[in-house]
Amino acid sequence: MTDDSPHPYSGPRRVLSGVQPSGALHLGNYLGALVKFTRLQHEMDTFIFVADLHAITAWQDPAKLAGQTREIAAAYLASGLDPETATIFPQSMVPEHAELGWIFNCVARLGWLDRMTQFKEKSGKHKERASVGLYTYPVLQAADILVYKATHVPVGEDQRQHLELTRDIAAKFNHDFGAPGFFPLPDALTEGPGARVMSLRDGQAKMSKSDPSDLSRINLLDDADAISQKIRKARTDPEPLPDDPEALKARPEAANLVGIYAALGGRSSAEVLAEFAGQGFGAFKPKLAELAVETLGPVTERMRRYMADPAEIDRILTAGAQRARAIAAVTVAETKRRVGFVGA
Ligand code: AMP
Ligand code: TRP
Repeated sequence: MTDDSPHPYSGPRRVLSGVQPSGALHLGNYLGALVKFTRLQHEMDTFIFVADLHAITAWQDPAKLAGQTREIAAAYLASGLDPETATIFPQSMVPEHAELGWIFNCVARLGWLDRMTQFKEKSGKHKERASVGLYTYPVLQAADILVYKATHVPVGEDQRQHLELTRDIAAKFNHDFGAPGFFPLPDALTEGPGARVMSLRDGQAKMSKSDPSDLSRINLLDDADAISQKIRKARTDPEPLPDDPEALKARPEAANLVGIYAALGGRSSAEVLAEFAGQGFGAFKPKLAELAVETLGPVTERMRRYMADPAEIDRILTAGAQRARAIAAVTVAETKRRVGFVGA
């Protein structure tokens, strides 16, 4: 999607994304998000944060939250984000996110939030018991992005709707406050074979932290044995692999395993099928396990090494937050002036 507004944003291209510290990271997070962050840091100014303000929209044990936050930071570093190149920080250390989030709460409309499917999924049958924060979650997400005037947001498919909302908020702010081109209308970067990694037990459900079955996902901290076992037990069908990706459409489990193989190897599903067409899963699964162990093993090892040095992680996060604040503070000051606050 492109910004086709009459006064498009003309500032620098910037990348921003984040992951919540609310559970163990899995292969979907790695392929759908982390790998893309690492690639993009060499193309544009990149901001990657740990979304701890978002995490507390559901209960988080205060004794564990800091450790979970460091674990996400360790995963960023282990998958190749360089703190000298990208700005890495915890959301809660940059109060400007929450400050802009409040202003955006007054720009976004209830009708817009009522359409958010993630809120419906997460609040379940008892929506009256969900936190108010869970409801306004996507508004804070818009603030995360726009406080850096980010133009590109690498995320998995499931975040598309939140990005649409971000664009709506940016456009309404620019319009209401007579500030055409003030905020960019950011693009979601969701393409690539890892955009929607599905559960290993059910090709119709996405791989998720919250799936009660650990066999459904490959965790970034799983060892080689666990990875191989989970792939061996992954649900499949009895047919051999086809030579045409179109033929995978009606075979979600097969499509998922081929997609994972492609994403891990940096290839397309068509290229993978060209190699494996005619072979059954008895042959394909061991190859997939081998590739997964070979690719993820070094990431896991680096992640463990970082996690053993929390002081170093905290140093990196504090330095990143300082850099982030310098930019976020400018946007918040300009925004407050537009809104008409005294002294702004
Ligand atoms: P979450 O685990 O929901 O906090 O998501 C963190 C990031 O990983 C977001 O960019 C998600 O879109 C992405 N993500 C989560 N699950 C998957 C999945 N199964 N496949 C691809 N990307 C995913
Ligand atoms: N909602 C995202 C998720 O669940 C996390 C997130 C919060 C985010 N703020 C963001 C992602 C800003 C991209 C940009 O994965």
